[in-house]
Amino acid sequence: MDPDKKTIFSGIQPSGSITLGNYLGALKNFGKLQDKYNCYYCVVDMHTLTVRQDPQALRERSYQLLALYLACGLDPDKNVLFMQSHVSGHAELSWILGCYTYIGELSRMTQFKDKSQRHADNVNGGLFTYPVLMAADILLYKTHLVPIGVDQKQHLELARNIAERFNNIYGETFVVPEPFIPQNSAKIMSLQEPEKKMSKSDTNTNNFILLTDPEDVIIKKFKKAVTDSGCEIVYDEENKPGISNLINIYASINDISRDDVMKEFEGSRYGDFKIAVGTSVASALAPIQKKYFEYIEDKGYLNSIFNKNAEIARENANKTLKEVYEKVGFIVNR
Ligand code: TRP
Repeated sequence: MDPDKKTIFSGIQPSGSITLGNYLGALKNFGKLQDKYNCYYCVVDMHTLTVRQDPQALRERSYQLLALYLACGLDPDKNVLFMQSHVSGHAELSWILGCYTYIGELSRMTQFKDKSQRHADNVNGGLFTYPVLMAADILLYKTHLVPIGVDQKQHLELARNIAERFNNIYGETFVVPEPFIPQNSAKIMSLQEPEKKMSKSDTNTNNFILLTDPEDVIIKKFKKAVTDSGCEIVYDEENKPGISNLINIYASINDISRDDVMKEFEGSRYGDFKIAVGTSVASALAPIQKKYFEYIEDKGYLNSIFNKNAEIARENANKTLKEVYEKVGFIVNR
């Protein structure tokens, strides 16, 4: 790790598939950060246990996530791509931070309230302390910047409060992390209900494009995408959310501006535009998919990356933990 560079940490749950929204909103731009920052991308398997998982599927999805990251161009020698459960420091720091987090704070987390309603039969302790483990993920690496969507802002705010509280008691220990929105990241909305974010957990599969969707499925989903009344291809988020979303997708996948898109499709019909968007997306994803299917077959290679990067993460995590143990008054023996 280069001490002159700022550190970025991002956690991704291996609990579902990656969508075009995740790709254009984050992943596509991650590759551009690898030279400027120290980047950690962590598969947060421990977080997924807060809701019941099928063990075999969880393991497979963890490999899939790594394979996709590699396929999207993240260099495993320049980014620390690792599994949360491989570095015991996450759980250890989480315990300590939990003692500096108030029940009242955790009760206010909207995700906890949502999830306890959705999984009313399993409102477990982990669901409640989820944000503490997330704070540990971030603070363990003295992270400066955390790429997150709005749904995670409240959790990041809590991590900042915990860091400041600890620093106030024991002196400068943790870096207080900031949210980070990579340049050119696009917010991609659902294809059927463009007022809401494209989400992998949506029950209607026509709402999202998966990075692994085959070409014919991609084109079919775009053909079905809702558009708005009128017939012009112009950007107007408020009155034409459907077309505006498609313009964003086309601009982002081709690295051009919205104005360029509008110029290119001036006078075109909605139907033709939708097919053009679908074709563009399918051809941009084709090389990623090809690499993904190669990587996912090679578990030996994926394991070697996990092993090597776990070691790097462990080394850095241990430095922070040692400091924390000393400050709180443990006899350090690590
Ligand atoms: N809670 C995040 C989510 O569901 C995942 C996550 C866990 C995370 N630890 C993190 C994100 C640390 C950023 C930093 O999206």
